[in-house]
This record gives sequence, C-alpha cells and structure tokens, in this order.
Amino acid sequence: MARTVLGLSAFYHDAAACLLVDGRIVAAAQEERFSRKKHDPEFPARAARYCLAEGGIAAKDLDLVAFYDKPLLKFERLFETYLDYAPRGFASFQKAMPLWLTNRLWMEETIRRELETPARILFGDHHESHAASAFFPSPFEEAAILTMDGVGEWATSSLGHGRGNTIDLVSELRFPHSIGLLYSAFTYFCGFRVNSGEYKLMGLAPYGAPKYADVIREKLVHVCDDGSIRLNMEYFDFASRLRMTGAGFERLFGGPAREAESKLTQREMDLAASIQEITEEIVLKMARHVRKVTGAAYLCLAGGVALNCVANGRLLREGIYDDLWVQPAAGDAGGAVGAALAVWHRYLGMPRESPERRGTWRPNTSSIALPPYEDGMSGAFLGPSFPSREIAAWLESHDYPFHTVSREALPDAVAELISKEKVVGLLQGRMEFGPRALGGRSILGDPRSPRMQSVMNLKIKFRESFRPFAPSVLREEVSKWFEIDADSPYMLLVADVARPLRREMSEAEKALWGIEKLNVPRSDIPAVTHVDYSARLQTVRREANPLYHDILAAFLRKTGCPVVVNTSFNVRGEPIVCTPGDAYTCFMRTAMDALVLENHVLLREEQPAWSEGDEWRKTFTLD
Ligand SMILES: [Fe+2]
Repeated sequence: MARTVLGLSAFYHDAAACLLVDGRIVAAAQEERFSRKKHDPEFPARAARYCLAEGGIAAKDLDLVAFYDKPLLKFERLFETYLDYAPRGFASFQKAMPLWLTNRLWMEETIRRELETPARILFGDHHESHAASAFFPSPFEEAAILTMDGVGEWATSSLGHGRGNTIDLVSELRFPHSIGLLYSAFTYFCGFRVNSGEYKLMGLAPYGAPKYADVIREKLVHVCDDGSIRLNMEYFDFASRLRMTGAGFERLFGGPAREAESKLTQREMDLAASIQEITEEIVLKMARHVRKVTGAAYLCLAGGVALNCVANGRLLREGIYDDLWVQPAAGDAGGAVGAALAVWHRYLGMPRESPERRGTWRPNTSSIALPPYEDGMSGAFLGPSFPSREIAAWLESHDYPFHTVSREALPDAVAELISKEKVVGLLQGRMEFGPRALGGRSILGDPRSPRMQSVMNLKIKFRESFRPFAPSVLREEVSKWFEIDADSPYMLLVADVARPLRREMSEAEKALWGIEKLNVPRSDIPAVTHVDYSARLQTVRREANPLYHDILAAFLRKTGCPVVVNTSFNVRGEPIVCTPGDAYTCFMRTAMDALVLENHVLLREEQPAWSEGDEWRKTFTLD
C-alpha cells in the first residue's frame, strides 16, 4: 500500500516540494531557500532531496509523486490565447516556447530524471491543488473553499465544498477574467514587480483614497453579484504582449505607468486604494456566493490573492463565516502541499483524520483558556532545523565568538536585548514554509520604539519603506492590543490596533505626506502601526512554537508589552535564510546587534571583521 507521496510545484514561480508520510505533512520547503535565488521557479531538486531526507525516505522507495498542475492544458491555454490574439501574441508565445519544449511538456521525464525515482507520477489541476491545500490541512471537518490567483491551466479562481476527505469543485472562473491578473495589472502599472510586488501595493493603499474605484468598475471590470468578473480586454495586454497594461491604462489614469524605483506619487497611492477596494468587493461577493451554494459555516482560502491579508481581515470582520483558514503558502509553493494531499485523499481515497488527531501540535498549555486550535500545517514549521551542538561546532570551527545560554534563561536574554532597542536575528527550530517568517527565521525588534521602523529598514533591510513592520503577539493577549480575538498564526490577517493604544494625529501631522506620515508615532507600538492604524499580525501559541512564545512572554514580563516586531530574516532581494551559515552572513552584512542561533547568542561587537566589501549596503531603495 502506498504510504509516501512527494508533492511538487515548479516552472512558474516559487518552486517547492512537500512530503506526506501516511497522509501527514512531514516536510515542505521552497527551492529558493536552498538555491538562494528568490522565487526560484526551477525544478525543486534540493527541496525534494531535503523533504525525502527529513522523512528518511530514499527516492527509490517513494510511492507516488504529485505535480501541482497539468502542463499540457497550460500549453493549450498559451497556444489558444496566441491564436485568439494572433499575430499580436507572437512575442510572448515565442518567448515561452523554448522553455516548454525542454522541460515542461515532458514533465514526467523531467521528474524521473531529476529525482531518479520509479514512483508513479500523477498530475493535479492547478486550482484543485490550491483547493486541496486550503481545505485538507484546515482545522475544519466541513468548509467552503475559495481559490483565487492569476491563472492556472484555464481557471483563475474556483469555488468548492470540502467535507471529510472529499472536495467538490462547484464552479470556476476562466482566463482571461482573473482577479489576480487584475490586481497584478495595477501592481505593474504602479511600478512594482508582478508576482512579488502585490504586497507593496496593498501596503500603499492606506495612504490613498479610492478615487479611481468608479472608473475601474465602469471601464475595466464588470463584477457580477456572485463575484464572477469580466475584464474589458481592450485595457489589458497580458494575453497578447509581454506586459500587463498599455495605452488604455495610461489614458484612464493620467499618464504612463510609474517607472520602477522612481518616486511614488499620490496617483499610485490612490490607485492602490482603489484596486484594494475593488478586490475586497470581489472577494466578499465570491465568499457570500460560495456560502450560499455550500451552506458551510467555515471558509478556506488559497491562491495568491489569499495573501491579501487586508481583504482577509475584512472577510473575517464581515462575519459571513464563523471562521476562516488561509493556507500559509497560499501562492504556488503551496500547490506542492495541495497536490500531495489531493493524491492522498482524492486519488487514493484515504480518510482524513479528525481535527484532534491531525495536528502535530501539543495540547494548549497556556495558563489562559483559549479555544483549541489545530491544523495540519504544524505552524508552517516544516523546513530544516539545526541541532544546537552542530551549530556550536560550526561556530567554533570558524572562530566566531558566542555565548551559550541555557534554554531556561534564553527567553529572558533575548527579551532583554529587544527591550534595549537591539535588533536581534533569530534562527531556531524548523524553517517556515511559505512567504512569511513566523519566529523560526525572523529579525526581532521593539515595537514601542518610535525609531525602530526606520532603523530596521535602513540599517538592516537596506530600504526605505512606506510599510510598517508586522507584529507578533501572544495569542492570549491579542484582544487587549488589537481589535480582534482570533488566531492569525500565519500573519495573513490585518486588524486595527486597539483604540486605547492609539494616538490621535494633530492637523499638521495629518497633512504630512508618504513616509513622513508613517514616521509620526500613532500608537504605543508605532513600529507596527500603519497610517490607518492597521497591523498585519501573527498570533503566537505556545504549542506551535514554544521558544518564540517564551520570548514574547519574557518581553511582556519585562516591559508590559506582549508584542514584538517580526520581519523576515533576509535583506532586500534575498530569500529568507535557511542555515546558520546563511544567518551569520546576513547578520554580518547588516547592522543587526545580535544573532541567536538556537541557544547560542552572538554579539556584533565581538565578531571579527567581515571581509566583504560593503559598498552595496549604501544603496537605499524604496521598497
Ligand atoms: Fe496559482
């Protein structure tokens, strides 16, 4: 009987692998963390090797491989789109061709060659993989499912109903009508990178007013009551050319697209606010519709659009569902998880364990009673970890000075550093799967410090940013500090800072523009408070990440504040660190004050000089 399934996603962006053993996710990782190429789309050979090693499985013993989409159908879409728009689409078709003819159409051979496995290879549908990644690991026995992204084979979003080990996909929206591509068109027009800059556009929205929302509704997109949409393809170029938007956008929005890295203007801020409003409108309508169709009380989300945590926060507040769960790797990396789970439950017909047995988390041990929370993603801590002893040996072999602290004393020691406005890099436990750092590979700071936002941006991340940092908060304290009393373990919900902690702006401060406005403290935790008082938060339970929880609890004891700044452990343009070696390099290339590698603490002033040239550090860029 089949016991092991390796899920793979590749050749679009964020290639990843995931290993299931007896239906449990034992490992998952993105290829970028190993290859050190951000959003690496290549075949995830290193990630697959890691997953197999973590599960103690040799490639020759693997039972099944599940790929997250159907390359032939995707090829058909490209080809038909080319014919529809011929001869205009020839450039993009010609650009895509060599890649298709080498690896993608012959995916089965590619997989067999790369993995050297005799395993049976199966192909899922792109949106089926997203849907499976949303529902099967969720804490719900029954739920409505909504997947939204740019495009898979043909589908751009799908509605489904999950029950036990079954998923019924009820309906789908097809290319070119896509909420993801609509959002990406604005990302492109505002001068950010498609497929990674969407986050920045979302962060820009609170500076603007939705003054273009009516124009977008009138000219660009027709939104039906069920949330399905029709794009007016006169204004979009993604089907026919190697760009998202053209002259039509320029006419509607007063001039050409913003050049990447050039100064942001009020227009981009208003465009961001406008497309955010439209996106929320579409997501809410889709969510209401799938609620009506399925009658389910809970909702599961995946697909790139599910990373829009502002829309997710709104969805929760609107109360359409009793609760919602978002796959932490909502983008295509999560397709590897979904493909594997779809094979396990849908193809092999294996039962789905009850929520009590599914999670690998221990029971809730915090002193304050919380409703139980378990899912199949283990807090997204599904990547490699490094034993303390090995790290010590590695540090000694390089003559890097360090202090070994006992596990009991470690939370206090880290909290003490943070409370003294030190910036601390933390590598502990297993690496996170998905785009967010959640306390396994994070840079931490004091959210109460008014200078922390700019210090961390300019000295650590080497950028100037209009976005505040994200807070991690003790789950049991969240409702005292934010206007929410729910779990957000994967930093995929936005909520407002609690009213008593807010500081009213003076008229002069309100009139400030852009980053100047962000630099005015607007709450007791200014480093994590956006200009509209919102925060993109992560709630931390002890059972998901004991050490991280203990650090937050120690910080609370010391300062009265259960919140820390949590930003991903990397610099701009690099993937999040994976190994202690990656972490040390990043530590030394930046102005971080301390580095914590498991229970070893390294202080900047004690380290030998770093030999690399530091010219590149002086380039501050807008991010
Ligand atoms: Fe996708």
